Amino acid sequence: MTSPIKKVCLVGANGTLGSVLLAALVQANCFDVSILQRSTSSSTSSASPSIPRIIVSPDLAVDELTTALAGQDAVIAAFPLGQGDQHLRLVEASFHAGVKRFIPADFGSCDAADALPQEYLPLYRRKTLVRERCEAFAARPGSAFTWTALVCGHFFDHGLRHGLLHFDFATRTAQILDGGHARASASTLRRIAEATVRVLQRPEQTSNRRLYVQSFNPTQLEILAALEKAMGEKWTVRQVDSKAYLEDARKRLESDDEEAVLVAVEDIVFVLGALDADWTKRDGFAMELLGLEDERLEDVVEEVVAAYRAEAQR
Ligand SMILES: NC(=O)c1ccc[n+]([C@@H]2O[C@H](COP(=O)([O-])OP(=O)(O)OC[C@H]3O[C@@H](n4cnc5c(N)ncnc54)[C@H](OP(=O)(O)O)[C@@H]3O)[C@@H](O)[C@H]2O)c1
Repeated sequence: MTSPIKKVCLVGANGTLGSVLLAALVQANCFDVSILQRSTSSSTSSASPSIPRIIVSPDLAVDELTTALAGQDAVIAAFPLGQGDQHLRLVEASFHAGVKRFIPADFGSCDAADALPQEYLPLYRRKTLVRERCEAFAARPGSAFTWTALVCGHFFDHGLRHGLLHFDFATRTAQILDGGHARASASTLRRIAEATVRVLQRPEQTSNRRLYVQSFNPTQLEILAALEKAMGEKWTVRQVDSKAYLEDARKRLESDDEEAVLVAVEDIVFVLGALDADWTKRDGFAMELLGLEDERLEDVVEEVVAAYRAEAQR
């Protein structure tokens, strides 16, 4: 790929990650950014009305998407995998539209292709299917289509604040897996957005690759220590055996209650992202390639604690 990426279309711009991605893409000041949105979207957007919106019908049909994406250099999928095959259709339409770089909705707590994620969750099997579809389109003779998948570990700031990392602010209780000594990469939302921008700014070096990024790779005990320091108080620790916990969550996946299944999925993602996610040892660890350095765990934890306190005072 010789020409730089200029026109970037973001799908999922109102989401947890998408809203931060959108701000970073605009702030980078080197892209023409647009948002692709379903006509049924009712979410309120903080995005500037000056950002062009491409409105499509909710079923994301390939033909309609192909027309809608014509002229885009890059497409970023930042919306959940869900049950359907919208993501596969988005890849296919991007290929037919002549899009040069596709960033799939990977952004995983763990690497979807690893054995445990594949074994435990359909979510990761679906993510792998999307990656394979990207590889297939990139491999077609004469294809201009390329892709980059970013694996970032747990959304650290978002996950810590919202209990997804199993540090409960309300009760000051931490669930610690197998003693809490395993290192796991995790990323703030701003780090993931920064990494995405840099991928688009380095199209040659990042082409057709799975890249791993992080803000840091602390143990659970280090996160706990940073939290206790920032809050000036001791937390209660509940030690958990990860194998027993995973098996219990796997059984809960079979429940008829949708909410219970959702919690079981989150519990499995929590464990895999805490125990099977140290990217520093992986081929494709891309911090240097993308010109990124670790953030300071203590600083980020302090930010999260400040946000928690501000919210608690409201
Ligand atoms: N590593 C981690 O800890 C972690 C945590 C969470 C998510 N993730 C990953 O991060 C990515 C983004 O997740 P997220 O939680 O940020 O997403 P999210 O907040 O649920 O995304 C919501 C956004 O996606 C749009 N959207 C939803 N379904 C859509 C569809 N079928 N077609 C088009 N747009 C659709 C919504 O559009 P409307 O405007 O219509 O509402 C909204 O803008 C996913 O790949 C997810 O697996 C990773």
